[in-house]
Amino acid sequence: MLNLALVIGSTRPQRFADVPAQWIAAGAAARDDFTLDTLDLRDQNLPLFEEPVPPSWTQGVYSHPAAEAWRHKVGKYDGFIVTAAEYNHGPTAVLKNALDSATFEWRRKPVAFVGYGGVGGARAIEQLRGIAVELHMAPIRAEVNVGMEPFLGVLQQGKTLDDYPHLAAARATLFDEIAWWGNALKAARAA
Ligand SMILES: Cc1cc2nc3c(=O)[nH]c(=O)nc-3n(C[C@H](O)[C@H](O)[C@H](O)COP(=O)(O)O)c2cc1C
Repeated sequence: MLNLALVIGSTRPQRFADVPAQWIAAGAAARDDFTLDTLDLRDQNLPLFEEPVPPSWTQGVYSHPAAEAWRHKVGKYDGFIVTAAEYNHGPTAVLKNALDSATFEWRRKPVAFVGYGGVGGARAIEQLRGIAVELHMAPIRAEVNVGMEPFLGVLQQGKTLDDYPHLAAARATLFDEIAWWGNALKAARAA
């Protein structure tokens, strides 16, 4: 069985991230081809990166205990679905910090993004794709973009993401694709 993790990529009080995170988790519960655990960055107590040398020089070992705990958690999974808020046209600092706080544990694993905001988090996701490649990850093409209309629909009109069939279709494609890449890369890593 493929073991995936859902990383909640923003931590501020009143964050919107819980809406897409719960909707992704609900959709994943209906799948029998992977499991999806949640890794909430609120719970990781990661310091702002403060390693004395790059972790690539220490075989990926971190000096800070919270970063060590984080990278070991990351290492348990075969792939990742990440909620992507957009702050000033880029990813959240807390998510970039979490990506920097593990190294080898991300490698040769797929990652998919669920963005939201004015343009569905697209600008943040484009930056995250480049970061993922540098981490030796495989960012998959399929993504979910909760754009302005559903974003405001949830915030101001009492709607839920289930009210938007195009989002459910994007979620299904994302699940299919991350399962395919997850299985392919899991087999390749084992070989
Ligand atoms: C510092 C900051 C910068 C933001 N910049 C953008 C932006 O560039 N594009 C955008 O679509 N939304 C932007 N927003 C609005 C966010 O999309 C919105 O607040 C969203 O709820 C943030 O995700 P979160 O609630 O999970 O933190 C910004 C919000 C904050 C707090």
